[in-house]
Amino acid sequence: MQNIWFHPARAIEKTASEAAACFEGSFDASVRAADPRFADFQINGALPYAKQAKKNPREVANELIGEFKKRGSFDETLVEISVAGPGFINFKLTPKFLKKWLELYKGQAALKDAAKSFFSGRKAVIDFPSPNTAKQMHVGHLRPMVIGEAIQRLLRFCGADMVCDNHIGDWGTNFGILIYGIKSENYILDPKNENALEDLERMYKSGSAKAKADPACADAARDELVKLQNGDPENTRLWQDIVNISKISFDRMYERMSLTIDVTLGESFYRDKVGRIYKELEEIGLAQEDQGALVVFLKDHPRFAIQPFIIRKKDGASNYASTDLATVLYRVEHFGAEEIIYVTDGRQQDHFQQLFLTVEKWFGAKGYRKPFLRHVWFGTILGEDGKAIKTKSGEPVKLKSLLDEAVARAEKIVRAKSPDMPEEEIAKIAETVGVAALRYADLSQNRSSDYVFSWDKMLAFDGNTAPYLLYAVARIHSIFRKAGIAEDADFESGAEELDTPQEIELARKLIALPSVFDQTLAELRPHLLCTYLYELAGVFSTFYNANKVMVEDKAVMAKRLMLCARTMEILETGLRLLAIEPLQKM
Ligand code: ARG
Repeated sequence: MQNIWFHPARAIEKTASEAAACFEGSFDASVRAADPRFADFQINGALPYAKQAKKNPREVANELIGEFKKRGSFDETLVEISVAGPGFINFKLTPKFLKKWLELYKGQAALKDAAKSFFSGRKAVIDFPSPNTAKQMHVGHLRPMVIGEAIQRLLRFCGADMVCDNHIGDWGTNFGILIYGIKSENYILDPKNENALEDLERMYKSGSAKAKADPACADAARDELVKLQNGDPENTRLWQDIVNISKISFDRMYERMSLTIDVTLGESFYRDKVGRIYKELEEIGLAQEDQGALVVFLKDHPRFAIQPFIIRKKDGASNYASTDLATVLYRVEHFGAEEIIYVTDGRQQDHFQQLFLTVEKWFGAKGYRKPFLRHVWFGTILGEDGKAIKTKSGEPVKLKSLLDEAVARAEKIVRAKSPDMPEEEIAKIAETVGVAALRYADLSQNRSSDYVFSWDKMLAFDGNTAPYLLYAVARIHSIFRKAGIAEDADFESGAEELDTPQEIELARKLIALPSVFDQTLAELRPHLLCTYLYELAGVFSTFYNANKVMVEDKAVMAKRLMLCARTMEILETGLRLLAIEPLQKM
């Protein structure tokens, strides 16, 4: 990532830290964004350094610049370096630099090729959406899907070698109740039945109500579970059918939400892999028996020293924790995972902290190569009343009905805006805009906050919304259409240097993309990319309103068309990273 022609801030930082190493003591050469009126980037480390070394800060700054210039290939016609105020070091990219950068990133392929240096082939497993089987998807499944997919696409784009592993919940005590419910109704499971999943949900509810009310039913349900765990053929077949029925319905949803899932290794896959976990954790003295269960106490943690991480239940059964421990090991041994990312809601924070700390100790003791583990958690979607969003009867809203409603609302808007559009096109645009609106409303929020769900806000054509961004892209396409210029034509040659303030501002915004990747990737927060795209669309609007594109002067027209094309490219690339397919027309 030292290539000044992709990520100038990083390239400057690299050379500056080499220059800073010539100073005695520590000199902070980190680069930050500068006040755009004066420069692009800034290094502020000369001030604290001078204070500690009892020197004049402006002199220190000049010394650093001297060392810097000895090293870098930073031609002054590309980057202007100066000392400002009490000793800030400013770096300003010249119009020549801006234009050359824009010429280099002509299409998504060029951007991707440069961006891959962020992760250069790092092997990462991402775990999402990982729903539990035998339940229809509801509003609670929206966030893992949209956040997970955006992160996965971003990491892939930035060069990571990704495996998306959908860790479905397809094993556990609830199958006893479910099988008991199915048998007591003599229900025939049929994967072709569209309502099979609904039926399963209903039978699970009535089964657990019966088990609660009547100990005999509870025993019967437990017997079914034991039979399943011991490989009874009939129960195994029923379980397999339940899982298949769930998968069929999940797959439909994944397709509609444009998810790219590589493998689905659910909890059941690890049934025969937990024995090794118990053995190894006991051997190294990390796990111990406690009231019949096998547990891990994390002695040096204030809370988890007392709050156990239960890895085997009293009845000897494995659980969420043991499965997850086996899963980490499998991902490292089988996929060679260097990093594992889990996308779930914030209520699972304790589980993942305990899991990560346990893995740290266990892998350390065994000398296994430790992967970097990250829990990417998110908050709750709230209704207008500030409580978790629910239907009138108190049930979670079905994801399908949420999507259908988004599309129906988008359709009304599209129809009102373009009444003459052919029906087929209206339907296509409505599906894109509706799903995108829902997705973007979620992604544009800081993932760790709760947010209030609002149809009107997410479907608005102004503000930080999907319709606004989709429209911004479609508008740039229409600039080319109206001018009769093909988007892939060679309209840029002979472009003159950028010079109006709006051209410069737009170019600088475009060049900020790699820094936006930096920020978004640091904590895996897609809203930072959303904010950038929204701002970029705004800066483009200002440019377009103030600087006429189709002008007589060919050299001026060429540079402005190039700015249009690059804005379109970066907006489209950004939207695709969020799993929103841009439209040519709206
Ligand atoms: N099935 C779980 C749930 O619905 C999420 C699983 C997340 N992944 C994991 N490896 N624990 O809450």
